[in-house]
Amino acid sequence: MTETGVRRHLLGIEELEKAEIVAYLDEAERFLELSRKPERKDASLRGRTIINLFFESSTRTRSSFEIAGKRLSADVINLSVATSSTTKGETLLDTVKNLDAMHADAIVVRHPASGAAHFVADRTRAAVVNAGDGLHEHPTQALLDAFTIRRAKKKIEGLVVCIAGDVAHSRVARSNAHLLLKLGAHVRFCAPRTLLPAWSVKAFGVEVMDTLAEGVDGADVVMMLRIQNERLKSAMIPSTREYSRTFGLGRRILARAKPDAIVLHPGPMNRGVEIDDDVADGVQSSILDQVEAGVAVRMAVLHRLAKATPSPA
Ligand code: CP
Repeated sequence: MTETGVRRHLLGIEELEKAEIVAYLDEAERFLELSRKPERKDASLRGRTIINLFFESSTRTRSSFEIAGKRLSADVINLSVATSSTTKGETLLDTVKNLDAMHADAIVVRHPASGAAHFVADRTRAAVVNAGDGLHEHPTQALLDAFTIRRAKKKIEGLVVCIAGDVAHSRVARSNAHLLLKLGAHVRFCAPRTLLPAWSVKAFGVEVMDTLAEGVDGADVVMMLRIQNERLKSAMIPSTREYSRTFGLGRRILARAKPDAIVLHPGPMNRGVEIDDDVADGVQSSILDQVEAGVAVRMAVLHRLAKATPSPA
């Protein structure tokens, strides 16, 4: 926290107070409205420099942080790790020291190692935003998911949210569980036992369901997770075909949810594996609303963090 009472970094949802989460969501409303106007610029971050430092691939998070920064009039630099000196063996520490020497105001970091965003935050004067670190957290995804839910349902408290699929490898599930429980939702994790982490029940107090039908039953929100093939060890699922048959969301299973239930997916989707085309593109899908929300929420995050860092002289 700074003297202004604003947190300098956004590293995870776990450490946020409920009031801070609500403040991000409320501020994002203003930026959603702005984003829908023909003239979408806000001058708040003029003169500030934001560096997107992504060590893992990304479509939504990276582009929406870039758009968010530019809409707030910041200078945004995308550092492509594939063409950076990381490929020559430069360490994360040296990369951060160099960005710090260039007077970056904010560093948005995605990294395959859990804890990488904290590591960066401890070694720079810049505000740091965690854009996904290993299996740990993806806080802006949870914020944009909550924003999408709140807009669709007009509340979060009391809703039944089923988070289904590869929970074990999902930083999205973890951040969402923290956030939704803080805001008073009932959270269900639904996955084959091999894809449920040990922390799911003990640390969170979420309900755990073994079948997708049980998880979806009476739900207000069904959030499907991507099967993370890049992190999956062999034998965690019998086969993709079998997984899709038992844990893929099709219209028949979705009919068990509340009639006005919405369907979310953080993307990228494995169509035909965890979600069928007619659900992903159906009337209950809010998946593209999530993408729109991503820009507004990231504008709110960058705007708030800028308040916590001194303006350039
Ligand atoms: N949801 C999400 O993080 O998507 P990307 O990997 O495309 O950024």
